[in-house]
Amino acid sequence: MKSFSSTFAPTLFATFTALIALGLSPSASASDHASFKDTVLPILTKHCAECHTAGGEGVQASGLDLSSYEGVMKGTDHGPVVVPGDAFTSNIMVLIDGRAGPELKMPHGRKDLSRQEKVLLRRWINRGAHEN
Ligand code: HEC
Repeated sequence: MKSFSSTFAPTLFATFTALIALGLSPSASASDHASFKDTVLPILTKHCAECHTAGGEGVQASGLDLSSYEGVMKGTDHGPVVVPGDAFTSNIMVLIDGRAGPELKMPHGRKDLSRQEKVLLRRWINRGAHEN
């Protein structure tokens, strides 16, 4: 008699692969993209634009305007907040993650970004922070 693993395992494996190909990959690829326009800007608009758009307190205090790609890449009066390819050292993520201390955590005095939103921002930065 053939062993379980030689008869069943390949069948199970093939079934799984087919299920993954059918069901999971479309959503996986949809959540896998890292577009500034479609993904990043809406997150910044939702959580940051209130203060980081021309005239807002965040722009007045730091010079950081998060309402456009140019503004995000220009950074604050003191320099860039995004290091393309390196989300961990990018100041924007340092502040969003609260790694610079609770009083500097962004968004200031507002609800934190969701885990998923942080993943999407990190992914966009790690993939080069392109205007895409
Ligand atoms: C309620 C207003 C407010 C909101 C909302 C807000 N910020 Fe700020 N932000 C500020 C202010 C004010 C400063 C000036 C520095 C300070 O006082 O901490 C600042 C400064 C910054 C700085 C520069 C800090 C430095 O190094 O000088 C970054 C980066 C930043 N914000 C990112 C964000 C991001 C990203 C969001 C959205 C997730 C956000 N902020 C939402 C008010 C806000």
